[in-house]
Amino acid sequence: MLNVGIIGVGSYVPEKRVTNFDMEKILDTSDEWIRTRTGIKERRFASSEQATSDLATIAAERAIKDAGISPEDIGLIIVGTNSPDTLYPATACRVQARIGAKNAAAFDLQAGCTGWIYATTVGAQFIRTGMYKYVLTIGAEVITRMMDKTDRYTYVLFGDGAGAAVLGNIEDGGFLSYELYADGSLAQHLVLPAGGSRMPLSQEVLDKRLQYTTMDGREVFKFSVREISRLSKNVINKAGLTANDIDWFIPHQANLRIIDAGMKRLGIPKEKVVVTIDKYGNSSAATVPVALDEIYRAGKIKKGDKILMVSFGAGMTSGAFIVEWSK
Ligand code: COA
Repeated sequence: MLNVGIIGVGSYVPEKRVTNFDMEKILDTSDEWIRTRTGIKERRFASSEQATSDLATIAAERAIKDAGISPEDIGLIIVGTNSPDTLYPATACRVQARIGAKNAAAFDLQAGCTGWIYATTVGAQFIRTGMYKYVLTIGAEVITRMMDKTDRYTYVLFGDGAGAAVLGNIEDGGFLSYELYADGSLAQHLVLPAGGSRMPLSQEVLDKRLQYTTMDGREVFKFSVREISRLSKNVINKAGLTANDIDWFIPHQANLRIIDAGMKRLGIPKEKVVVTIDKYGNSSAATVPVALDEIYRAGKIKKGDKILMVSFGAGMTSGAFIVEWSK
């Protein structure tokens, strides 16, 4: 079995900033409520011409450039998304064509906001077994289109974005441990009810606005705080490390209070925790790879740093891994 690591990263967030003050103009909400309850100050919205594959393609091209490989070297593309361009074909196939990865298999993986952690864990196994040399994993969303503009409870939380990683064999370091989890009995807490085979679109569905996300925020909050700390502990133990050995924590960016509570349970100092929610809101499967790319581009990650990434989301799902940086 060979070591597998992240050999390239890239991200893209749309140019359009939507501040809490912009939200005040269209909803019965306030900058103060949003900031104190969630930590969000602004988020990015895709332009009306952009769909998820457009964001994913830019992030992918940046990650491939960073890895120093050619698109034709890639054996597999996995896109973690909850806002695919179309229900089918897969967004990953659209990205495959756009970037010219003509030797790659491609599929989407839907695991709520845990999508990129799931995709990367799955992708790494293909390299470990020798089936593929390079795998491209992307977390990409235009998730704001799945939200109801008239629902202040959900609309203020989300933003759009995409992050990507190229996985490949490395000499030292790389992935030290992984963990994936799901509890489908909690599915009702975060759902996009209509548009699938259970409830196809109809005029009645549209009148009831069931084509948009519904959420039980308090239940999601409880699950998330528990899962951030539980999965982080599990991957730390599996890797034979202690929390002190971790140099960077990159948690899913859904709510600053969830991050703070999860990190407090783990006893992690604030300086090690990467926070982007103030700028981007919750861009679902994109939050973790976008945050990773930001600290990488800022030159903050050193070779040998141990980075713990952890996420949770619809399903309900959760997942985490530790990677020892090898670049
Ligand atoms: N602006 C102003 N008031 C709002 C509001 C908004 N955007 N959204 C809700 N409120 C109101 C509620 O109506 C409620 O009013 P009431 O007390 O008169 O009924 C009040 O604020 C408190 O609502 P509550 O649900 O108790 O707030 P909360 O502290 O639980 O925060 C969330 C709500 C959604 C921010 C929080 O539960 C959360 O972040 N949950 C996790 C969501 C998540 O992470 N989802 C994605 C997972 S991947």
